[in-house]
Amino acid sequence: MKVLNIGSLNIDKVYQVPHFVSAGETLSSTDLQIFPGGKGLNQSIAAAKAGLSICHAGKIGPDGAFLAQLLSDSGVDTSLIRTAPGEATGHAVIQIDPNGQNCILLFGGTNEQITPEDIEGFLEPFGSGDVLLLQNEISHPGVAARLAAERGMRVVLNPSPISPRLQEVDLDLISLFLLNEVEGAALSGGQTEPEAILETLCSRYPRAEVVLTLGGQGSLYRGKEQSVACPAFPVGAVDTTAAGDTFTGYFLSAWLDGKTPEEGLLFASAAAGIAVSRPGAAPSIPEREEVLCFLVQR
Ligand code: RIB
Repeated sequence: MKVLNIGSLNIDKVYQVPHFVSAGETLSSTDLQIFPGGKGLNQSIAAAKAGLSICHAGKIGPDGAFLAQLLSDSGVDTSLIRTAPGEATGHAVIQIDPNGQNCILLFGGTNEQITPEDIEGFLEPFGSGDVLLLQNEISHPGVAARLAAERGMRVVLNPSPISPRLQEVDLDLISLFLLNEVEGAALSGGQTEPEAILETLCSRYPRAEVVLTLGGQGSLYRGKEQSVACPAFPVGAVDTTAAGDTFTGYFLSAWLDGKTPEEGLLFASAAAGIAVSRPGAAPSIPEREEVLCFLVQR
């Protein structure tokens, strides 16, 4: 079984702010750092650190070469990352407040220049029984899901960020949803209670398993045979950016490794807990050994 992530690669410009800037306000930040990021990149790195063999497909400009290098250094297969000469890599402007909460503004750049033909090419080496991981930070996610399913691949979706483009994705094709409450509410027609979100998604998409993350309230799993809950690990939040991505990569690795949903939630929650205690997106993602030690010492 091979795993492919067709996902975004971003340059994150991270500003420390006393509070999130509001309409009409001019606000001075107290610090600026540049980090590798992008939901796609973060999730590939988390999955690889968790022990999964994964290939990342995507598009960067010449300014994004360091993103591909980081993926490669983290053990991700980067043979399907294309460089568009003269184009700008995607970037994110991220505000971090004193509580470690974030506010993200995206510029898609080359992430939004992935064509259906690119996607066909990315999927060429993959087939029945393989897995496609998708988020909503690249162009044509609906084409990617459809073509992957036509090849007999299982499709895993983190529907983030929520945007009207998600309507292009045939959600009946999804085997595993990994989503937070905001995304869960959007996909379940406005349900706000966690149990109602799970109930709605599992009855609408009976083939799918669903993992719902609830921040400090932990996470929930619902499949055909069981429901599982896992508490969050209490940590001092420095920067919550990529906590969800870390969770997704770690849970996916456990899921594909045949671990139980309970084991998967625990592994992913511990990894996400460590990630929020550190600054940055990709640099905050812990190694598998750190996560295992954290679980032993808790
Ligand atoms: O999920 C966090 C990520 O969202 C950041 O790295 C940023 O690039 C945006 O894609």
